[in-house]
This record gives sequence, structure tokens and C-alpha cells, in this order.
Amino acid sequence: MSGVEGKVAIVTGAARGLGRTYCSALARAGATVVAADVNACDETVADVARATGADDRAVAAHLDVTDIDSCRASVATAVETFGRLDVLVNNAALYASLASGPFDTLDEGEWDAAMAVNVTGVWNMCRAAVPAMREVGGGSIINISSLAAVYGLPNALHYTTSKAAVLGITRGLARELGRDWIRVNAVAPSAVATEGTREFFGDDHERVLGAIAKQQALRRNLEPDDVAATIVHLAGDGTRFVTGQTFMVDGGAVTT
Ligand SMILES: NC(=O)c1ccc[n+]([C@@H]2O[C@H](COP(=O)([O-])OP(=O)(O)OC[C@H]3O[C@@H](n4cnc5c(N)ncnc54)[C@H](O)[C@@H]3O)[C@@H](O)[C@H]2O)c1
Repeated sequence: MSGVEGKVAIVTGAARGLGRTYCSALARAGATVVAADVNACDETVADVARATGADDRAVAAHLDVTDIDSCRASVATAVETFGRLDVLVNNAALYASLASGPFDTLDEGEWDAAMAVNVTGVWNMCRAAVPAMREVGGGSIINISSLAAVYGLPNALHYTTSKAAVLGITRGLARELGRDWIRVNAVAPSAVATEGTREFFGDDHERVLGAIAKQQALRRNLEPDDVAATIVHLAGDGTRFVTGQTFMVDGGAVTT
């Protein structure tokens, strides 16, 4: 038993990469899922159907996390389609398209865009989702941060700063929402080979992932299913007394 059976989840940034994996993992564990993204999530919904053998375990929703009305619409999709909302995975982020470089050369527009999606987007989705979670007496919000925020990824200060803000949102909101039995936790993965990391690191992709693996206690790169297992655990009742925490899923890159 995963403790996720019967729960309804929204996963943002679900069109590809890790978000797509989280949808199938949650559905396999017994949840129904709204796969939400600015890009089409049809393939994610098809993955869920393959993973569960049922075509009613996931729906796609168009979502721009920078727009509060769009966030509220995705919550309405969850409630209208599946009757409730229990779990929110704030996974959508800008990073693959961000140009990296020394801190004083970063583009101001990209800095603002990273904050709008990675920070304000998380706040927006929480604002949209909490009323529906209060309706059912609680919930679990899982905010995706990054090893970058804790370890300090050089030449990506916009991304690193935005992911550190996610940890602040997690701690502050956990204290505000405990009275509503809504738990708020963060997950900070190290580097996973996704379309996103390939775009972000470009020709350096293999070298950077290799260097990251060498600094971990567990010397291989993280795989999407490694993170998905932690997401499912935090979504379920097995972690019902856990809130305000940051879970490093990084093979022991950071051990303090
Ligand atoms: N891949 C890694 O190595 C790694 C490591 C640590 C943390 N993370 C974090 O994990 C998450 C997923 O990473 P990924 O590699 O799968 O990324 P990705 O770039 O493949 O996927 C991000 C998704 O977010 C969506 N998105 C972007 N802007 C959006 C918006 N305004 N509204 C809604 N959706 C939007 C994109 O369309 C995309 O589908 C991100 O939060 C990332 O920061 C990734």
C-alpha cells in the first residue's frame, strides 16, 4: 500500500522530463492525475494509460503557472474531473532554455523569467490549490527544488536563486498551512539526464553529469524513477506527520 490510493494529484510541468515520470508513478501507486503544462501533455496521459492499463487515470490541462487564472483553472479541472484535490507537485520550471554564465553577465529578462516561473509560479499554484485542499481536510504540496540551491551551482545564479526561494516557500508555507493539515515539503534532486539537462548543459552534458556522480556517495547519476519514488512517498499517508522538510535525492552529494 502506497497510501496514495484514491488521491487526486496535479503535476505541473508534466509534458516531458521528470514531471512526466511523476504522473505515471503516482498513477501506478493509485492516484488519479492532472498532467498540466504550457505544452501538450497528451503523451504523458498516454504513458499513464500504458502504466495502469486504464484510460481514466489522467487528464491533460493547459497551464501557465505565471498566470493565477490559469492555475485556478487547472485546480478546477482536478475537482470537476476527479471530485477533489489532495496532492500538488510544483515541478514546472525554467532552466533548460536559460543561458548560463558568470553572475554579472546573466540577462535581466531571463533572470525575471526564472523568478516568474520558478518562484511566483509555485506561489500561484499554492494559492490556487489550497482552497480545494482545505475542502477535503488536508493535502500534500511537494515543491521541486534542486541540488543547485543547496550546493551552489556556478554560472546559473538565476536558476540557483530561484530554487533556493522554493525552499523558503516550503518552510514558510508549512508553518502557515499546518493548521489545515496541509503538508508542504521540498524535493531537491541532483542532475538527472532529461531533455532539460541536455539543453541546459549542451556539449558539456556528459562531462557535467559524470563530475556530479563522482562527488556523490552513491556513484551513479540519479534516474527519474529514483525521484518519483520520493514524490510518491511524500504524496501518501506514510508521511502524514512530515512537513517543512527538504528531501535531498542526490546520492549523498550533500550529507549535512
Ligand atoms: N533534470 C535535472 O537534472 C533536475 C535536477 C534538479 C532539479 N530539477 C527540477 O526538476 C523539475 C523538472 O526538471 P526537468 O529536467 O524534467 O525539466 P524540463 O525542462 O524537461 O521540464 C520542465 C517542464 O516545465 C514546463 N514549463 C515551463 N514553464 C512553464 C509554465 N510557465 N507553466 C507550466 N509549465 C511550464 C515545460 O514546458 C516543461 O515541460 C524542474 O523544476 C527542475 O528545476 C531537475
